[in-house]
Amino acid sequence: AVNRVPLIAGNWKMNLDHLQAIAFVQKLAWSLADAKHASADAEVAVFPPFTDLRSVQTLVAADSLPIAYGAQDLSAHDSGAYTGEVSGAFLAQLDCAYVIIGHSERRTLHGETDADVNAKVLAAQRHGLVPVLCVGETAEDLEQHGASAVPVAQLRAALEGVDAAKEIVVAYEPVWAIGSGQAATPEQAEQVAAALRGVLAELLGDDAAARTRILYGGSVKAANIAAFMREPNVDGALVGGASLDIDEFSAIVRFKK
Ligand code: G3P
Repeated sequence: AVNRVPLIAGNWKMNLDHLQAIAFVQKLAWSLADAKHASADAEVAVFPPFTDLRSVQTLVAADSLPIAYGAQDLSAHDSGAYTGEVSGAFLAQLDCAYVIIGHSERRTLHGETDADVNAKVLAAQRHGLVPVLCVGETAEDLEQHGASAVPVAQLRAALEGVDAAKEIVVAYEPVWAIGSGQAATPEQAEQVAAALRGVLAELLGDDAAARTRILYGGSVKAANIAAFMREPNVDGALVGGASLDIDEFSAIVRFKK
C-alpha cells in the first residue's frame, strides 16, 4: 500500500496583503513549532495572492520554515503579450511548489473552460510546479447528474496530455459546499474521491493513481477535518475561509483521525 502524506492547504483567495501574509506565515510557523501542541502529520501549504509570494518566499527561505506555498492561478502561456497574466516560470523562480488551477471561482467568474484548465495544467508541468487541480459540481449538476459525473468529466479533460510521471494533486470541491458552511458529508467526499482515483488509474496508470493526493474542499473547519481524513481516498483538504484564522487553521493542520 502506498502511504500518501496528507496535504492541508489554505487558499487565501483575495485576502491578506503582503504585510498580513508575513505576519500570518510567521504565526503559523510558531504554531507548528510549538511543543505544547500535538505535531502536525500533514504537509502544510498556503496559497496567497500573487503580490504576497515574494514576501512569503523570503520569510520561508530565511528561517527554513516547514511551509510550502503556491499561487492561486497561472497563465497557460510562458511569456509574451498577455497583459495581467503571471507565468509559471515566474512562480517557479519564487520557489512555489504548487499552483491552484481551475478553482470554481476562476471557472465561473472568469469563464475558464476545461480546455483552459488543461492548458494551465500543462503549463504548470512545464515549469516544475505541482498543479492543485480543482474539480466539482454545482448544486444543479448534483441534482441532474449525481455527484461524480461533472468532477469526473472535468478531471478527464484536465489531464489530456499530462505527464504521468509528474506529480499532480486533485482537489474535489463541490461548488455548493464552498463558503456555504454546508460541507459535503465525508461519505459524499469519499465516493467522489474514489471515482476520481479510478479516472487517474485509467488515464495515468495504477502507480500514479496510488501516489496522487486527492483533497476535499468546501467548508472545512477544525470541527469536521478529522471525519474527512478518516476516509481512505481523501488525502487532505483545500481550506478557504478557515485558512485565514490562525487558530482555526493551526487546529486543522493538527487533525487527528
Ligand atoms: O479553495 C478552497 C475553497 O474554495 C473552499 O472555501 O471557504 O468553503 O473553505 P471554504
